[in-house]
Formats: sequence, structure tokens, C-alpha cells
Amino acid sequence: MQIPYIKDINLQHKRVFLRADLNVPLENGKILQDFKLQKTLPTIKYIQKNGGKVILATHLGRPKAQSQTNFYDEKFSTKNLISWFESREYQIKLERDLEHAKILSHENFSEILLLENLRFFNGEKGSFSEKERFADILSKLADIYVNDAFGLIHRDDCSVDLLAQKFNPGKKSFGLLVEQEIKNLNKLKQNVDQPFILIVGGDKIKDKTKLLENFLTIDEKNRPKKILIGGAIAHTFLKAQGFQMGKSLINDDFLDFTKDFLQKAKLQKIDILLPKDFLVVKQMDQQTTEHREKDSIQKDDICVDIGKSTIKEFEEEIAKAKTIFTNGSMGIYTKPEFATGSKKILISIANSNLYSVAGGGDCVGAIYLFGLQDKFQFLSTGGGATLTFLSIQNPFEKLATFQAMIH
Ligand code: 3PG
Repeated sequence: MQIPYIKDINLQHKRVFLRADLNVPLENGKILQDFKLQKTLPTIKYIQKNGGKVILATHLGRPKAQSQTNFYDEKFSTKNLISWFESREYQIKLERDLEHAKILSHENFSEILLLENLRFFNGEKGSFSEKERFADILSKLADIYVNDAFGLIHRDDCSVDLLAQKFNPGKKSFGLLVEQEIKNLNKLKQNVDQPFILIVGGDKIKDKTKLLENFLTIDEKNRPKKILIGGAIAHTFLKAQGFQMGKSLINDDFLDFTKDFLQKAKLQKIDILLPKDFLVVKQMDQQTTEHREKDSIQKDDICVDIGKSTIKEFEEEIAKAKTIFTNGSMGIYTKPEFATGSKKILISIANSNLYSVAGGGDCVGAIYLFGLQDKFQFLSTGGGATLTFLSIQNPFEKLATFQAMIH
């Protein structure tokens, strides 16, 4: 299977449709975290340096009325991205009208032509015929198609699936970011340097079940030796084992999943480490926390962070590891009073001499918040995409985005 990368494509004098994932968090038009924008710049620079014209396209958020025609909602407009590019001295022009964009696509190759949020057009997510129509329109804007939207590999939005199919092999490729993502995430699936440990936290167990299960069935050589579990996911595991978790966040629908998972992990000789202790509050707006062992949580306690014995145990495991993938946080890291566990665990990964990869908006958000972004070997731009990539055995055979590029 030949994976098409941008370095194999001739871009000279070509109009290049760059499907990026610039889905950044915004508040009142202000970009709160520019990680994805930073990660897309190398591909933009590469296209420009090699003589191509960048036609930049992305989705932004999940606009509600995306099935209406001429939908517009300023808070999801790509106009919010313009000043970020301009402050880095890129010439960038937003064009909402796709007919006019076609004309502009032939002009001024030093300027980036930015399209409006693709999810404002009903073809991006609509019925098959709407998608077909939209793919036809978009395909006329460019000679070459580049997919650098790693965060979308688990989706079949028109611009990452049907649109790619409109371009022949040799006229389409992945961008530098997707290339990096594939290379770095594959290191967690192939020829893993042992001991490999997986650290999983966060709120929603439903998003992590496939990831957890896949790592149980991966071949023994590449299988994690231990899985360290924190965050609200750990509450669900402990409740299923009969511990009283008070008013802590629990995913009740997954109690059986956790029991089954623990049994399977035992058969595969993978140790699952759950928290021994927690920090708790009685009300979420409380500033001070109290310490509890896992068997002394009271009926009105809310667990908000892992406790000091758990931190110590997890730190000792991290010190022995050679490879770590971490996803999700140990507690509510956005509140300084509840952030100690998340912070200490991330610091100990950052300071260890190992191959460390983090994925997921929350986890990468915490890493940036604590200023550790340069100390991880790789930070993945995907949320669900990263988990999906790691959760399935053959992503290239199973995901529409990859299929559309390879054939
Ligand atoms: C993400 O932020 O994970 C990607 O941009 C995908 O966004 P979506 O979940 O709205 O498709």
C-alpha cells in the first residue's frame, strides 16, 4: 500500500486545496489555543515554497444550522482566523463565494485563499447527493488536493472523503502534519520500546472503550505492560468493584464494561492501576479539598483529583517506562485547586527519558497550561481521531479518509 505524501507531488504553479483541521477553541472571536494552527504552518510553507497556491479550507466548530443554504454564523466563521495569519505576515484573503474563489484561485500565488467554514455549506455533511455536488464544486478550485486534517480521519465529511476521490493518484497527498501523526502514532503500535504504559483519564469512558480494548488485543510485543487510570473513568471502575464513590461523576452505563475489561486485562497479563486515594469536595465551587482513601469516600463527597499516594505510585511507574501514551486528565485540571494530580503526572512524564505521546484536546490543553509542550516527543492534534487511529488494527483499510487518498 502506497501512502501518498506531499513530497512526492509536483506543486509548481499548481492550485493546491489544503484541507486542514483549524478547529481551534474560540471565545468572542479570540483564539484560546493555537496549537492546530501552528501545526498546519509547515504544510502551508512547504506548498508556497514549492510554487503552489494555497487554497485553505477547514471546518470550525459544529454550527447548528449547517443544512440550511447560505448559512452564516459569525462565531464559527473562518474570519476569526485571519488576524492570526496576518500577525505572522501571511497574506490571506477570505472568500465566501465559491464561484468567485475559483477565479481568485488562479491569481496571486503568494496569498493564501481562505474559504469559509466548510460546515456552513450543506454539502459538507449532507446527503450523498449534496456531498457529490459540493465535492464537484470544490474540486474545480484546485489542481492538487492535500489532506492535512488529521483531526478528521474518523469522519466522512465531504472535504475529507468524496472530494479526495475526485483527484487522481499523483494529484493528491497527505500533508506534513498527517505524515508526522501517522509516523509518531504508529510507534505506539509497532516495535514499541518496552515497558510501554498507557495513562488514561478524563470524563467520558465511552470515548475510550475501543482504545482500551484494542490495547488488550495488540500483539504481545507491543502490548502495554500497565494501564494507569485516573479521572472520572477511574470512578466508574471503582464503583463497579463495589466502592462508594459519593456524588462523583460516574458513567453508570459502563459498569459492566469495566468488570469485563479487568478480567480480560488479567488474562493478557496487563496490570490495571486504579487510584488508591482522592481529593474530594462537597460542592464544586469549594476552594479547599479533603483527602480520602478509596474505601472512605462519603455519600456527599465529589472526587475532583487523585490523591498523594496515587500520584506517588503513578510517578514510580512512569519512572520505569520507556514508552507512554497519555490521554485525558487525572482530575479537573482547569481549576488550580483540583489540578495537582494532572500536573504532577504530566511533569513526571515530561521529565522522564522516554518516548512520550499525548493526544486529545483536554490532555494537550493541560500540557500547554502547565508549559510542558516542548517536553513531549509528540503531541497529537486529534481528539477522537487519535483514539480511533490507535483503536483499530488497520486504519488505512477501515477509515474513509484514508481510503479516499490511497485509491
Ligand atoms: C476535533 O476537534 O477533534 C476535530 O476538529 C474534529 O471535529 P468534530 O468532532 O466536530 O468533527
